[in-house]
Parts: sequence; C-alpha cells; structure tokens
Amino acid sequence: MTPNGLHLQPVGALRATSLRKSFKTGRTKVEVLKGVDFDARHGEVTMVMGPSGSGKSTLVAALSGLLRPDEGDVVALGEPLWSKPSGKIDKFRLDHCGFIFQGFNLFPALTALRQITTVLKYQGVRNDEARARAEQALDEVGMKPKMNQRPSELSGGEKQRVAIARALAKQPKLLFADEPTSALDGENGQIVIRLLQRAAKAHDAAVICVTHDPRLEAYADRVIHIEDGRILDDRRRLAPAHEAHERRLQGAEV
Ligand SMILES: Nc1ncnc2c1ncn2[C@@H]1O[C@H](COP(=O)(O)OP(=O)(O)OP(=O)(O)O)[C@@H](O)[C@H]1O
Ligand SMILES: [Mg+2]
Repeated sequence: MTPNGLHLQPVGALRATSLRKSFKTGRTKVEVLKGVDFDARHGEVTMVMGPSGSGKSTLVAALSGLLRPDEGDVVALGEPLWSKPSGKIDKFRLDHCGFIFQGFNLFPALTALRQITTVLKYQGVRNDEARARAEQALDEVGMKPKMNQRPSELSGGEKQRVAIARALAKQPKLLFADEPTSALDGENGQIVIRLLQRAAKAHDAAVICVTHDPRLEAYADRVIHIEDGRILDDRRRLAPAHEAHERRLQGAEV
C-alpha cells in the first residue's frame, strides 16, 4: 500500500518458465509437469485448480524450492531459485516463504503457541515479538484459547488452523497453500480463505493456493486450471466476486 492507502499495481513475485518434471517408478517414467509457465504477483491470490493427479502439488513444490524440476527455472522475488546452492534455497524458504500443506507438518511435541514461536525465533525474531505475533495469528484463526495444546489434543480442523497461523505469523512475501481448507467445514473454510486474502492485500504477499473447492474461486484474483501437467487456462477476475457482493451489501445499508 502507498501512504495514502492506495494499492500499488500488483508486481511480479514469482515467474516460472518451461517447468518439466518426471517421476520414475520401477521402469515407468511419468511426466507430471509438461512445460509449465507460471507467474504470480504481489498482493494477489492466485488459485490453482485441477483434477487429482494433474500435477498441482508438484508444481507448488517446484515453485517453492522444495522439489527441483528436471528443466526450466523459477525466478522468485527477483532471484533465480534453482541455480542457488541448496543451503541458499533453504534459507530463501525460511526467510520468504510460508507453507500450508495438505498434511499439517506440525511438530508433535510442541504446543500450538510454540509451533509458531519456534519458527519465528529461528528466523531471528526476538522472544517477546515472536510471542506477540504468534498469539495474534492464533487469535485470527480462533485458536488462542487452545494455544497450550499439542497436536494430539487438537482436531484435524484445529491442526489445520494452527498450521495456517504459523504461516501467517511469518508474514511471508510468498505464501503457498495446498488444499488449505480440506479439513475444514464451510464456515471455517471461508475464514481461512479470507485470511489468505488479507495476507495478500495487507502484507502484499503473493498467495498461491491449490484447491478443489469451487466455492473458493470467488475469493481469487486469478484462477489457473491445470490438467495432465499443462496449464489449460488462466483467468483474471476483475474484482473478486465476494468484493462486489460485499459492496452491494454496503450499498444496500446506506
Ligand atoms: N515422488 C513421486 N514419485 C512418483 N510419482 C509421483 C511422486 N509425486 C507425485 N507423483 C505422481 O505425479 C502425479 C501428480 O501428483 P501431484 O501430487 O502433483 O498431483 P495433484 O494434482 O496435487 O493431486 P491431488 O489433487 O490428488 O493432490 C501423480 O500421478 C502422482 O502419482
Ligand atoms: Mg496435491
């Protein structure tokens, strides 16, 4: 945002060109990404949709420095990602990327609060600030009352919300979410997608969100469909449908 509150034009955060990735199982080689070009911008939620097995998680892994593509490269925040040494790729992820994954990737021994403070401290955030940011993020996902509970004492949806709070507390410039609402009911799913949108709008993050859930499409700035390792279409929404809906409601109240 500019000082007078205006949003800057979205600018490129992530650009991938000609990504290819194959997996070998036994003698068979399966081509999962078949030359994918992709870009995502700061301040936008880009949704990636497509059938199971179409390559969505593989794409996210290649975009975020988790899985090296066979061909192609990714420029992330202006830096070529895959030509860095692996230690620098790890550091890039730690400094700039947030992840919300299909599995929750929570540490079994840590309370909800410490899931978050541990990561922030590792990033170099001071103790008191780490605690304040963690509590605020847990509050945003409605998990502050359970901040002292461990994953084994939380439901699937609650674990998902802790994982989301952990990603948001980092205030990353690149936020990757893979089916972030899969363990949640409709209402909590909406809360989560609004939080992802806030990360994009308030912190200027580029949010890349994989989903099967057609209800979430309304919250996207852009929707990309992938099928069989190829981008089928790439649609930009002029204004996310829910904003138009909310404007209509506000208009009706005046
Ligand atoms: N490590 C691996 N080894 C072998 N094959 C793999 C590996 N990872 C993924 N695949 C295969 O690649 C294809 C794409 O997988 P991917 O996880 O990217 O799909 P997806 O679109 O995320 O599906 P879903 O919606 O079910 O999560 C699948 O057919 C899968 O079996
Ligand atoms: Mg997947």
